Amino acid sequence: MSLRSKDLLSMRDLTEGEILEIFSTTDEMKAVIESGIKKMPSLAGKTVLNVFYENSTRTRMSFELAAKYLGANAANVPVSQSSVAKGENLIDTGRNLEAMGTDVIVIRHAMSGAPHLLAKNVSCSVINAGDGMNEHPTQALLDMYTMKKKKGGFKGLKVAIVGDILHSRVARSNLWGLVAMGADVTLAGPATLLPRDIHKAGVRVITDVREAVRGADVVMVLRIQLERQKSALFPSTSEYSEVFGVNNAMLALAAPGALLMHPGPVNRGVELMSEAMDGDQSVILEQVTNGTAVRMALLTMLTCGRQGGNA
Ligand code: CP
Repeated sequence: MSLRSKDLLSMRDLTEGEILEIFSTTDEMKAVIESGIKKMPSLAGKTVLNVFYENSTRTRMSFELAAKYLGANAANVPVSQSSVAKGENLIDTGRNLEAMGTDVIVIRHAMSGAPHLLAKNVSCSVINAGDGMNEHPTQALLDMYTMKKKKGGFKGLKVAIVGDILHSRVARSNLWGLVAMGADVTLAGPATLLPRDIHKAGVRVITDVREAVRGADVVMVLRIQLERQKSALFPSTSEYSEVFGVNNAMLALAAPGALLMHPGPVNRGVELMSEAMDGDQSVILEQVTNGTAVRMALLTMLTCGRQGGNA
């Protein structure tokens, strides 16, 4: 019940067997959470540090809770008040945190590849909690776990990922994982928000969101990431919602019983209308619940039985 690598940096690094092993460990962790006694001794003596250079609610809190539920020492490094503000670089920051006895560093950074750089320069485990526009593997794992629980498996599962694909690390991690597991993935959004050459990843890429949603088993809506846009990539948010926003009428085009997903945070009324977000098909809060269990599984699999690291 361990991963081949000391780190979790990309969905592309995981084999199909490892993904399934993560899901079966997540089942065990979910049972612990649902038991109401959210405390296990399995990571007692281990230290997990969250180092978030970008804002987060779900990922940071669920890693902190996951570590605490497993009995580990867990803390958040307040990056804006740390010596990063005095000019300390990422590698030196990581080495200093490791020197304090850290076993796992969970990092979110605006720069694509920052977790990979850190992982090469420390011997403790590094988990990518989102690096720029590149990847967010733990989000993809919790999304895929939710799909598996609700739909049974991935072979032939029709997944429509719609919205701001260009800036989305969630889309990239999901598509690597879903394609590897045999899902049939369609990406859709305005042409300006679709990365060039993304079709080479083995997915269908279209600009008509209605067409993408038609017959889909899963509709994953992505947030419009205005903070990452250097220039206006669509005329206005109201025009965006009119053409690309997902509402109940659009969701009705999907397969009966289709799941509505969103990684959060949601721009309510922009990419996703409240009627759909709060409707019966929405599993958005279930994704969040599963996120803690998936992160418990990952912390367990990266630390238990691993040689080296910090005792
Ligand atoms: N989905 C996600 O990464 O949410 P946060 O930014 O709140 O962590």
